[in-house]
Amino acid sequence: MHNTKILIKGRRHLNGHVKISGAKNAALPELAAVILSQKPFTFKNVPDVDDIQVMLEALKNLGADIHTGNEEIRVRIPEIVSHLVPKKIVETSRASILMLGPLVARNGFAEVSFPGGCPIGDRKINFHLEGLSKMGADIQVNEDNITASTDGLTGIEYRFPHKTVTGTENLLMAATLATGTTILKNCALEPEIGDLIDLLIKMGAQISGKNTETLEIFGSPSLSGAEHRVIPDRIEMGTYVIAGSFEGNEISMSHVIPEHIDSLLNILVKMGVSLKVSDNGIHVRGGSGIVPAEVVTEPYPGFPTDLQAQLTTLMTQAAGNSKIHETIFNNRFQHVHELNRLGAEISIDHDTAVISGITPLTGRDICSTDLRASAALVLGGLIADGETVVSNAHQLFRGYENMPRKLKELGADIAVLGGEDE
Ligand code: EPZ
Repeated sequence: MHNTKILIKGRRHLNGHVKISGAKNAALPELAAVILSQKPFTFKNVPDVDDIQVMLEALKNLGADIHTGNEEIRVRIPEIVSHLVPKKIVETSRASILMLGPLVARNGFAEVSFPGGCPIGDRKINFHLEGLSKMGADIQVNEDNITASTDGLTGIEYRFPHKTVTGTENLLMAATLATGTTILKNCALEPEIGDLIDLLIKMGAQISGKNTETLEIFGSPSLSGAEHRVIPDRIEMGTYVIAGSFEGNEISMSHVIPEHIDSLLNILVKMGVSLKVSDNGIHVRGGSGIVPAEVVTEPYPGFPTDLQAQLTTLMTQAAGNSKIHETIFNNRFQHVHELNRLGAEISIDHDTAVISGITPLTGRDICSTDLRASAALVLGGLIADGETVVSNAHQLFRGYENMPRKLKELGADIAVLGGEDE
């Protein structure tokens, strides 16, 4: 799998309709929430991506019965048979940290390996551990893993020192089985958290404050199962909107929630991209003469760090200097070196990338470093003259369902070499 390469013959225009899959970053915490109940769950619209497969493997290790078929996943954990989430299963993803809260809440004891995930910077979890500790979990950390044990969690009032998506999700899930009331302040506002809250409320959890920075959870002795359809993936949607923004391309998508990427859409309109947005659809047409922009990544509803690399590729085709200031992660410019090898002219000044355009790109062998950087390099290959080979491309399949196939259906000349299916 780690020798997966993607071969692209560039400068084919993309035209047509693309189906956006379910949100990986909603499905991950929602599958972890299964741990909170002995009852059965049915999930629809779960994306078939590697990070989800990792989570399902980790749940199986805890004792989950899992059945997949006719576009749904049925899962239940009648009895926890192991308290362990081992490194060999989860080393590449954030799955393990998302299981810590639910597992210690349900089982009283949890042992999870340190979380993996993209090498995009510090992936600290101190707020997760601080909150669980205040709720009454005894947290022990050694070089390999984290253990948490408790005779029962109790509700707390906790303010996150700064916004954390999975930190909010972890403590929120743990609080649903804690005794008494938990008030979480300075919570992240990402739509995936709102979708998780919808699931937890279906399970019988008592939660108020959805889509606000203050969540109040009144703990329950037990929770039921639920049926749930995962929201569409706003980062996949944003990636294809950016793909449609290049000159000569025209892409439409339906069954999406455009407001989830309002920050990106506002930037693209200012850059001169033609967009038609309805309640559940987007139509984007790339034009000649897009103009530069200056962008700062911020927690939702600000411009998402997960679209920063992809927008950088588009900015190489804007006439003038663009800037992107990355404020969330401290190592999320690894795509820049590879884009410059295609012919881009991007310089890094501390936490800001300065992209000068217009720079014609020429295909060559490049190497992917992380999930969203992979998408940025594929976008680069699509507009480059000649052939581009993206190596280490397994990263792409962690979070994008069938991207090569979806791009081929839009007219790209793209093939997967070795490893992954298309
Ligand atoms: C989630 O990661 C997403 N992953 C990331 O998407 C996304 O980039 C990120 O949120 C920010 O939006 C999932 O939801 C599975 P954070 P997460 O905790 O929760 C610091 C993708 O491409 N921090 O919001 O791990 C941390 O170091 C992935 O799909 C602490 O200091 O990110 C980082 O600098 C990449 N202490 C910042 O906060 C903590 O306890 C934001 O991290 C927790 C976080």
